[in-house]
Amino acid sequence: MFQSLPPAASDPILSVAEAFRNDTRPHKLDLGIGVYRDAAGNTPVMLAVREAERQLLAQQSSKSYVGLAGNPRFNRAVEKLVLGDAADTAAWVSMQTPGASGGLRLLADLLVSSRSGTDRPLPRVWISDPSYVNHAPVMRAAGLPVEHYPYLDAASGTLRREAFFDAVAGLGQDDVLLLHGCCHNPSGVDLAAADWQRLAAMVAKQGFIPFVDLAYQGFGAGMEADAAGLRLLADASAEMLLVYSCSKNFGLYRERTGAAMVKAGSQAVAAVRGKLFELARRSYTMPPDHGAELVARILESSELTALWDEELTAMRLRVQTTRVLLTQALAAQGVAADYLCTHQGMFSMLPLDGKAIAQLRDEAAVYVVAGGRINLAGLDTARIDELALALADVMQV
Ligand code: LMR
Repeated sequence: MFQSLPPAASDPILSVAEAFRNDTRPHKLDLGIGVYRDAAGNTPVMLAVREAERQLLAQQSSKSYVGLAGNPRFNRAVEKLVLGDAADTAAWVSMQTPGASGGLRLLADLLVSSRSGTDRPLPRVWISDPSYVNHAPVMRAAGLPVEHYPYLDAASGTLRREAFFDAVAGLGQDDVLLLHGCCHNPSGVDLAAADWQRLAAMVAKQGFIPFVDLAYQGFGAGMEADAAGLRLLADASAEMLLVYSCSKNFGLYRERTGAAMVKAGSQAVAAVRGKLFELARRSYTMPPDHGAELVARILESSELTALWDEELTAMRLRVQTTRVLLTQALAAQGVAADYLCTHQGMFSMLPLDGKAIAQLRDEAAVYVVAGGRINLAGLDTARIDELALALADVMQV
């Protein structure tokens, strides 16, 4: 059966994580996978999560199934985080999913289903160049055609604004525009408020479908500010897709806690919900409950919410400080990288080619994702100067 199985494609992020694990050099430095670490290099369980877990252990009376949509209290709570208190959510359908990756696949399957039995072409999914390494593979695995739109100017570390809007100007009703809600992965380059306004006007006029991946809410400018842009799109569009991750902002990585949300319009809500249930049943049936129950408990308690918000704020500020310190340390080595301080979230891209990345790994035990993505949230403060030295060796102009 499996004799002629083609070789598996290796994942650019997970393969770096594995190579790092296998490296026995004590001074190794992991700037790969998007995981937050504190100043001492640990990824702690957040205190609010610990307390919610303690309560859950004491109070949970059953492990019986939830439902195909997962934890309904979690779904309502995430709708509020994403769309805001005042949002009219009657037009939206929300499903808890196994991480945002599970949500991406569920919504990709929904897009494919939306054309079955019609003679309309499958929608094209437009992905930023560059984008999260799993965006294109997940869309293609579902059978959707993928196109790329210009996004990052690698030399300056800024948005290719006019090229981006030129590409968006060509989109119509058969197009889906996949955007990062905040903290663009891998570049850290986010749309400005005026860009979101411009996009919202284009959505309203051209009728393409926005598909927002919000995996880092709270790591950019704050919980509300990080959702402000997508809320403009939600107001402007008749239909919209969204996936959400609690991996980073609740530190729940391995619990696979995410959501998929669809703005369907009140006429289509029931049909979309039914189809999402069918697609989930055929794939994973139900998402794991533990992480979602913790998030629901935190957001239902003003005390736990305040504790969580305080911890998340501290994480955001630490990453912002790390950006400043690394920029200064690079400047001291003669490398100008001021763009690092204009970026948001965990990641930035450095102008590193394959040779430089291999040299960093082999000579300095520094692990960077292919393309030059570094995770600033993974950087031990005490090792910033040492990293700047290693980078300067391979980045010197
Ligand atoms: C990352 O981009 O490093 C994370 O989102 C981990 C992942 O799932 O790839």
